[in-house]
Amino acid sequence: MGGETERTAAASKNEEKQAQVDIRKGILGFTESAVMKCAVELGIADALENSGGPMSLFELSSSLGCSPPALYRIMRFLVHRGIFSQKSTSQGSTGYVQTPISRLLVRHGENSMAGLVLFLSSPMLLALWQCLSARVLACETSAFEAAHGKGIFQYTATDPAFSKLMDDAMACGARVTVPAIIDGCPEVFEGLGSLVDIGGGNGTTLSIVVKACPWIHGINFDLPHVVSVAPKNDGVEHVGGDMFDSIPNADAAYLMRILHDWGDEECIHILRKCRDAIPRDKGKVIILEAVIEEKETDQLKDLGLMMDMVMMAYTGKGKERTLKEWAYLLNEAGFSRHSVKHIQAVESVIEAYI
Ligand SMILES: C[S@@+](CC[C@H](N)C(=O)[O-])C[C@H]1O[C@@H](n2cnc3c(N)ncnc32)[C@H](O)[C@@H]1O
Repeated sequence: MGGETERTAAASKNEEKQAQVDIRKGILGFTESAVMKCAVELGIADALENSGGPMSLFELSSSLGCSPPALYRIMRFLVHRGIFSQKSTSQGSTGYVQTPISRLLVRHGENSMAGLVLFLSSPMLLALWQCLSARVLACETSAFEAAHGKGIFQYTATDPAFSKLMDDAMACGARVTVPAIIDGCPEVFEGLGSLVDIGGGNGTTLSIVVKACPWIHGINFDLPHVVSVAPKNDGVEHVGGDMFDSIPNADAAYLMRILHDWGDEECIHILRKCRDAIPRDKGKVIILEAVIEEKETDQLKDLGLMMDMVMMAYTGKGKERTLKEWAYLLNEAGFSRHSVKHIQAVESVIEAYI
């Protein structure tokens, strides 16, 4: 009996110790994204990518023009977290090398996530987290409005540099998600003569789609200040406007990471506008969004829940939704049926038909 009590006491002491470690890790969780931003700003991944082999601390620091002792500590942290790695050289010393994660931090690399790192860690967006509790207490405004006096999409119209940071960050996501649809369920784009991407940003999504499916005429639809600076792309027409007013006609309407920015009422309004823009018989709406309870792996569910917190901070009533919540929006907007396809991405493909 005495032994049992001792074991219980020891177990609860261990739990307490673990709780101390876990809470400190949670509190210091911001260090990982802050140091990743530092790595992007210094161009660490770019230097290693261009070096053609492992780089010693002194080679790396002289290539970046920074202090070896400070860089040593930055690299120790990032290697420990698996973002960079170390490898022995033929001379018997060790040097830093890339990992699959650090390759995504190369500024202009294929599938680069550097733009997303810089956007999410920008002072404008980091300020929002100071207003999250105020947002929870008074559900009316977003943390973005509380911090900066207007909603995020009104703000981008007044700050071209921030608008470009957002467009570049969104393009990073598009370069991962769109190929995942083309690889995982290419039938989504089959039979379409035209496709309107609503809130398509700088047109990265459609430039990938029309390259893979050259029979599609792409219409990149976004706010006038966004499309006026979007680069020209063959097969993609840029159209400026407001999705709450009207949406250009096309065989299918594509909404990627748009509806999660808005509350249910606004989503139903947007979806009804999409319904008006597509043919009654063969038209469809293609939605690319996280489906919270449907993900097969915990890791994806974890990412979906993180994104939900981001939506809470950035937008007024935006949120990540469950399958039941998506079904509700589509029913209310007048769609008779829909299907969900999972792809190698945080988002799933929801196809809705009139
Ligand atoms: C979160 S971004 C998503 C960009 C892109 N779909 C992607 O996933 O990469 C939201 C986009 O919606 C656009 N947007 C916001 N309000 C809009 C409106 N009323 N009409 C048209 N586009 C709008 C923004 O300018 C921005 O480009």
